[in-house]
Amino acid sequence: MSTVVIVGAQWGDEGKGKITDYLAESAEIVVRFQGGNNAGHTVEVGEKQYKLHLIPSGIIHGTKKNIIGNGVAFDPVAFFREVEYLEGFGVEISPETLQVSDRATVIMPYHQVLDQLKEKARGKNDIGTTGKGIGPAYTDKVERSGIRVCDLLHEDVLREKIHLNLLEKNRYIMEILGGEGLDEEAVFLQYLTLGDRLRPFVRDTSVVLYDDIRKGKKVLFEGAQGMLLDIDYGTYPYVTSSNTTAGGVASGTGIGPRFIERAVGVTKAYTTRVGKGPFPTELENEVGEWIREEGHEYGTTTGRSRRCGWLDLVIVKTSIRVSGLTSLVLTKIDTLAGLKKVKICVGYKLKDQVIDYFPASLKDLAECEPVYEEFDGWDDSVAEAKTYEELPLNAKKYIDRIEELLEIKCSIISVGPRRDQTFQKDSL
Ligand code: GDP
Ligand code: IMO
Ligand code: MG
Repeated sequence: MSTVVIVGAQWGDEGKGKITDYLAESAEIVVRFQGGNNAGHTVEVGEKQYKLHLIPSGIIHGTKKNIIGNGVAFDPVAFFREVEYLEGFGVEISPETLQVSDRATVIMPYHQVLDQLKEKARGKNDIGTTGKGIGPAYTDKVERSGIRVCDLLHEDVLREKIHLNLLEKNRYIMEILGGEGLDEEAVFLQYLTLGDRLRPFVRDTSVVLYDDIRKGKKVLFEGAQGMLLDIDYGTYPYVTSSNTTAGGVASGTGIGPRFIERAVGVTKAYTTRVGKGPFPTELENEVGEWIREEGHEYGTTTGRSRRCGWLDLVIVKTSIRVSGLTSLVLTKIDTLAGLKKVKICVGYKLKDQVIDYFPASLKDLAECEPVYEEFDGWDDSVAEAKTYEELPLNAKKYIDRIEELLEIKCSIISVGPRRDQTFQKDSL
């Protein structure tokens, strides 16, 4: 058995797509277990740059099995758009290489409308969602009124569920949120057609995975978002609506936790966040702007500029604990090249003590002051390194200190966006 979970150890956009693609070389199956097309995963191979939102990053290899698990909020329109986008790159897609769980929750057009109108209604208290309908779709799942992929394949069930949902939602959209109601028949016909197109890809993916794991096939679970966007352990309410941590794999794919062997946490050499919410090490100055420009820190899904700050080990430590990480992947050390001094936050000063865990209350968090260690910077040659030994001395010192403070190894180092700008430093 060889199963590895890849999760974001910060606020998302750590480079999970790139690392999934890199590790997929030696895997047979790649699985998404949560989130939806709110994610934006970039993979660069040679001159080609792929931007994936819903389909697992293993698809680019052309021969791997890619599974969208039951825990995903599945937008069928976005799915076929992405299939066509990938086919445009010459990626071959078939029901052998891409399968969708019959139990995945479907994002319906009213979920997107609700997401956007509710954000508007929140005014200055908005969350800064991606507007893809993620929150409202998961709300329906938990409320037990959701439409699942299997429902798209049954005309009568689909008609009834859309009718019941729109009866309630159209009133809410029009009377409370001041929006325009949706046409029931039009939604039904569109989703019936989508269901028909989707039929060949639909499987009980829990059964598929269980069989494959028992045959000893190598499986990667590709997380979306990151530690602090987790619905339970993130900076609530400025989070997404799913469990982004390794624990989400079992419930989001239908395989037991004993089948999960290793969990790697991807972390940038600094920290970024898109959308609103607290960010203790944020640099609202020229250094933060410099990192944003050097690191091209603009959202893959929404194009919004990402907020930037120093590496915060309190966050990564939380990820090590909550996801049971067995090692880290450190990305984008090349982005910091050129800075004279670089800092790492090693704890928070809260009242008269220093804490190394993330408080639940945003009120307590607002009082936390980061405690920093400072390091000498390194130069551009970092991007040329093919091994740990080839890195500039100060970059090595930075990595060594991260490993020492967190008591965990950085198994993979990424020094640029391309697949070949990646090397293994330690075993996974
Ligand atoms: P994900 O959501 O975790 O998959 O990350 P994104 O794709 O949203 O954002 C990461 C961005 O950083 C992408 O544009 C990647 O191509 C890029 N990237 C990944 N690793 C590195 C790295 O080591 N160095 C540089 N310069 N860019 C990287
Ligand atoms: P990847 O997988 C970064 C953020 C949004 C917003 C909050 C809630 O590319 O790392 P949602 O639309 O999920 O209800 O928005 O979560 N967010 C992400 N931030 N990377 C992502 O995905 C994100 N997916 C959602 O910006 O703050
Ligand atoms: Mg992203």
